[in-house]
Amino acid sequence: MIYKNIQHQLKKNNFIFKNFKVLDSTMEKTKELIDSYKSNFLVLSDEQTKGKGRRGNIWYSPSGNIYISLGFKNLIDIKNHFIFNAATVLSISESIDSICNLNSNIKWPNDILVNGKKISGVIVELIKSNNMNYIILGVGINVEKSPNILNYPTTCTKELNSKINKIEILELFLKNFFNYLDYIYKHQYKYILDKFKKKLLYLNKKIYLEENNISFLEGKFIDINLDGSMVININGVIKNLYSARILNDNY
Ligand code: BTN
Repeated sequence: MIYKNIQHQLKKNNFIFKNFKVLDSTMEKTKELIDSYKSNFLVLSDEQTKGKGRRGNIWYSPSGNIYISLGFKNLIDIKNHFIFNAATVLSISESIDSICNLNSNIKWPNDILVNGKKISGVIVELIKSNNMNYIILGVGINVEKSPNILNYPTTCTKELNSKINKIEILELFLKNFFNYLDYIYKHQYKYILDKFKKKLLYLNKKIYLEENNISFLEGKFIDINLDGSMVININGVIKNLYSARILNDNY
């Protein structure tokens, strides 16, 4: 079975593994299953017919790429959900770098870019069921296929000019992720945030932003808070932004 090592890794970390050939979206399946399990679980699908991106976008999901969602059931501390996001994005970026020998970066808050083009994205949803709060993380990594849109995503295969084994990326992603999870469980959030910042594009640089699809802002990107908000200096006034889009590049 091709996912044998993944199954083993998940079991060791008390995660249940659910594997599908086709789903509408692993996010929707995870929500559907959230009440069925006592432990955390991972849903993987070889392809998706209604892949979901952030801001209501569609996530193009033919077979050949990675599509997973992680459902967290046993969280004590949901208020620090950004750190789960940071650990996920970092784990993806590090596994792509190591397996594909590339140098990926993070674009705040959830994108992984290679040579200025998006190779992977993460979506985080907080849901309430039976009066409990759960975190669901969705990960899409373009290994082989990307939509044919100018300046839009790239793939590991495209960047390398040779085929990459998606199972290897997935295995390393999980290894990295479980390692960061230990830091989260020990509340060592700064360790993760510092690593996140090292890969962050535009930190200490001038950025152009669109806030809530309305206002246009220009300032210096000076830091990231533990809650995930970005700190920017706009003409000497320090502002924390929770929801904005960096417009510096047009990936
Ligand atoms: C983004 O817009 O950058 C986030 C993309 C997240 C896509 C993944 S693919 C697996 C999971 N299932 C979905 O429907 N979406 C996420």
